[in-house]
Amino acid sequence: MNILVLGSGGREHAIAWALNESPKCEKLYVAPGNGGTAGFAENVAGLNAEDGEAVLAFAQERSIDMVVIGPEAPLVAGVADVLRAAGIPVFGPDAQGAQLEGSKTFCKEFMMRHGLPTAEYLSTSDEAAAHAYIDEKGAPIVVKADGLAAGKGVVVAQTVEEAHDAVSSCFDGAFGDAGNTVVVEECLTGPECSMLAFVSAGKAYCMAPSQDHKRAYDGDEGPNTGGMGAYSPVPIVTDEELARMEEVMANAAAATAEEFDHDYRGVLYGGFMLTPAGPKLLEYNARFGDPETQVVLPRLESDLVDVMLAVAEGRPEDIDLKWADKWAVTVVLASAGYPKAYEKGKVITGIDAADALDDVKVYHAGTAMRDGELVTSGGRVLNVTAMGDTFQAARELAYKACDFIQFEGKQNRTDIGLRAINGRSSWE
Ligand code: AMP
Ligand code: GLY
Repeated sequence: MNILVLGSGGREHAIAWALNESPKCEKLYVAPGNGGTAGFAENVAGLNAEDGEAVLAFAQERSIDMVVIGPEAPLVAGVADVLRAAGIPVFGPDAQGAQLEGSKTFCKEFMMRHGLPTAEYLSTSDEAAAHAYIDEKGAPIVVKADGLAAGKGVVVAQTVEEAHDAVSSCFDGAFGDAGNTVVVEECLTGPECSMLAFVSAGKAYCMAPSQDHKRAYDGDEGPNTGGMGAYSPVPIVTDEELARMEEVMANAAAATAEEFDHDYRGVLYGGFMLTPAGPKLLEYNARFGDPETQVVLPRLESDLVDVMLAVAEGRPEDIDLKWADKWAVTVVLASAGYPKAYEKGKVITGIDAADALDDVKVYHAGTAMRDGELVTSGGRVLNVTAMGDTFQAARELAYKACDFIQFEGKQNRTDIGLRAINGRSSWE
């Protein structure tokens, strides 16, 4: 099969890597790809992944048998719709399903209609109503821009003043059109847990739970980032919570088949908070998580081409998921200054030595080839993933592998997974 993956991050490297392991994968393209995917697939630099017609033209010219869409922007832009209309199997939902991620109001209304557990909220495009709701409910309270804001549109306000400021800045255009409507919601407490599921024809096949680390610095301090590390499964999740999250994902998948013109075919990502009243949804995303994918897919023993094609073709009964009985931890190596301004073009050494360790895989997130040398080209540069028979072993191996890799300004958290080892009480 000829397969095209859209995207350029560590998530797409992990997806492409797993697809390439399949004997069914003959020719693999990644658009635009990165310095890591260049090693085993053909990167397509000039293709605009958000332009459905351009992607379709490329797919037809290269006889592509399946397109896998990594990031949310092409999904929300309707790239899957264009490809599907032309009869090309696509892994990733249509624009309608992607609205679960593209609009927080759409997502909350979907959750309410189907009795999926989530925080109490108000969605409004009337600024005065948002301020009044904050005065009525008090702090802490959460303010979210409705549309896509690259993970920056959420303020967890500890005071009423902070919440009012967040609402004002949304309506003043801080997030462009994404902030014309705001969602103001109840502040939930507890550890966060991501539950990703393959969804097709109304059925959900859950992957193992995983946990991201969104803050830039140790101790969950500093600004929010795209994710500084992750692990899977999550030792602090109880069997009861796991069963409940799986039930919620199954109900959501059934709802997608009921509501959307075409059923939803791709990954549905449930962002949960494990509250004292049980798991509640913070959000749905319409794609794999980054860096969660880098700890979930390495544990998948099934052929990813078979799984994704079954999803894309609406044959959920053919999805067969087998997982390695191992723990996985990934540590993000970032450029100095990330998530604020950072320099690019720093030479990277030591990846081969790290990759050569048993049970270690280094995924590229922001790298490029320059004059035959691998250099940094993004804020998050590499995701160093290790697997182990115990959580501790995986964690130690990931950090050992990180030590092999050098580039000027390398920055990483040193406490990925530490809270999981310290137990549930470290979230209280
Ligand atoms: P989101 O962009 O929806 O993933 O939100 C970003 C982060 O804000 C989440 O990962 C949570 O840490 C936090 N957050 C979002 N909604 C809530 C909520 N209702 N209560 C507490 N924290 C929240
Ligand atoms: N790791 C968070 C996300 O992918 O949205």
